[in-house]
Amino acid sequence: MKVIAFAASNSKTSINKQLVTYAASQIQGYNVEILDLNDYELPLYSHDKELELGQPALAHAFLKKIQSADALLISFAEHNGSYTAAYKNLFDWVSRIEPKVYQDKPMVLLSTSPGPGGAKNVLAAAEASMPFFGAEVKASLSVPSFHENFDPENGGILHPHLNDKIVTTVQLLQQ
Ligand SMILES: Cc1cc2nc3c(=O)[nH]c(=O)nc-3n(C[C@H](O)[C@H](O)[C@H](O)COP(=O)(O)O)c2cc1C
Repeated sequence: MKVIAFAASNSKTSINKQLVTYAASQIQGYNVEILDLNDYELPLYSHDKELELGQPALAHAFLKKIQSADALLISFAEHNGSYTAAYKNLFDWVSRIEPKVYQDKPMVLLSTSPGPGGAKNVLAAAEASMPFFGAEVKASLSVPSFHENFDPENGGILHPHLNDKIVTTVQLLQQ
């Protein structure tokens, strides 16, 4: 069984990538592959660019990764209350190949931010829209104040109560 995990961010120091990497490590008995959106960077989507470029190989490659997964784990970064441009751009390109981008896969959605909001707005947007794109959302969890809750040295969550919540949430992927 295979889990594809990624942060919906193209930051090279993404806190969502740190969170999703930790959360994925708590899933027992699955092979986990962590993707980096920087490996799928595409020009800004427009109708004209699509006429020029067709369906870019990187969009096909990303869709193939989704297709290869038994389950998905995504952690969303919030930019101005919504998706990062990097994620939305890749999603738009992939949706032109296959509107059901998420292929009826079970998934767990996470989000985090440095502040107490925990990127809740983007998480709410993702929860509401994902089912239209073939996602079977099993659970979601916003992690507030990332830097106060995450130990970068040991790559783990500092507070046992929050750690339990993350572990319980990601394990719902397996049900
Ligand atoms: C353009 C921009 C807009 C942002 N807007 C929000 C926001 O609306 N809500 C929020 O909680 N954080 C916001 N932030 C802060 C991000 O949560 C922070 O940069 C975080 O590290 C992004 O996640 P990442 O490190 O995984 O990319 C914003 C940051 C940038 C650069």
